[in-house]
Amino acid sequence: ISQSDINQAGHLTIGGCDAVELANEFGTPLVVYDVNKIKSQIEHFQEVFKNNDVDYAVCYASKAFANTAMYQLVDSMNCHIDVVSAGEMSMALHAGFPASKMTFHGNNKSLAELQMAVDNGIGVIALDNFHEIDLLEQVLAKSNAEIEVMLRITPGISAHTHEYIQTGQVDSKFGFDLESGEAERALQTVLKHSRMHLIGIHAHIGSQIFELNGFEMAANKLVELAADWKQRFNYQAKVIDVGGGFGIRYTDEDKPLKPEQFVDTIIKTIKQASQDHGLDTPAVWIEPGRSIVGPAGYNLYTIGSRKDVEGIRSYVSVDGGMGDNIRPALYDAKYEAVVANRPADEIVEHVHIAGKYCESGDILIQDQPLPKTQPGDVLVMLDTGAYGYAMASNYNLNPKPAIVFVDNGKATLVTRRETPADLERLDYGLDGK
Ligand code: LLP
Repeated sequence: ISQSDINQAGHLTIGGCDAVELANEFGTPLVVYDVNKIKSQIEHFQEVFKNNDVDYAVCYASKAFANTAMYQLVDSMNCHIDVVSAGEMSMALHAGFPASKMTFHGNNKSLAELQMAVDNGIGVIALDNFHEIDLLEQVLAKSNAEIEVMLRITPGISAHTHEYIQTGQVDSKFGFDLESGEAERALQTVLKHSRMHLIGIHAHIGSQIFELNGFEMAANKLVELAADWKQRFNYQAKVIDVGGGFGIRYTDEDKPLKPEQFVDTIIKTIKQASQDHGLDTPAVWIEPGRSIVGPAGYNLYTIGSRKDVEGIRSYVSVDGGMGDNIRPALYDAKYEAVVANRPADEIVEHVHIAGKYCESGDILIQDQPLPKTQPGDVLVMLDTGAYGYAMASNYNLNPKPAIVFVDNGKATLVTRRETPADLERLDYGLDGK
């Protein structure tokens, strides 16, 4: 938080809006996104591709955060998206997002989901396993349709040098294994299916990654594979999709490169390796989720009760918690926070920010430095935009928060707050009525 984020009232501002006024107007807990931050990160990605003069697609990984407005915003930025369920596909279509710019991912896509993808003309299916190839072939034959596909490869890059949420290691549940020849069998299978058009290969090695070398290794592996397949099967990959995973800063412990610096290295690695192997440079696709929405998101809470455990610690409780952000409880994820109505007040203590859920583990932040606070103050947790609302639950039957987009001082309610009636809408009574 810098001085320029504080207005004349002495309040924190988000995207030109007074955070205290947002809390008053829309209630808390509240999820707020700064539209300009989302846009500028997407633009940074697009610039780095243009500077490197390579064909590309920025595919926003919508699992990080999706609602109708977000799909529309991403569409207005000429992005593709990655979807992983009928739910994401359906909401994106409902938002008017072009089906042709969607890539459908997942390790267990159902027959119904594949049928939906084919019926709606989804751009690319990222094939993950042989069962899915069979299912897709059934759907295509029945519908007399064709579709573009990619093969998801497990590049065998394990985290021996990095600590991250791994997905690229040999024992991952995702993708076709390289070493065992599985990937090659998948290639041969897909090439035999004339209704599937294989546009390229894909790997995603993990999330919240800080080191460059994992991406370099993956990029090199994918190009080597493409070169091998060109030579032995005369198959030329048009696209190399390196997935997402570019790490962001949550606290001072994190010192990531800028997301676009990761991408710059990936592009240069792919270009160089392609040249070394005598391949035409393929289009480079990326699938960033967290880096696009994480820093743009803010969770606003109202401070309530307080408990001082003599000589040990103090808890300051807020009106949300693990239901709207499970990452601290699930991953021990760290965040920073500020008090919106006194952001510049002198820090007087370190406290645990406790959620309201009936679990001791529902602590949003441990040892948060705070000024003197009182009930009714508005606490703003920073950088909550990725995998926060997206992983929200109705635990304790708490309704999910509302979502507001702020854009140059203008606030728009884009998802309304859930109500108890929303939670009851699926239920019948004991009598089944
Ligand atoms: N592409 C694929 C195929 C993925 O599986 C993922 C994330 C992404 C792209 C986007 O990765 P990102 O750029 O957001 O790191 N819930 C966890 C993160 C799970 C990531 C799952 N896959 C968390 O809250 O940290």
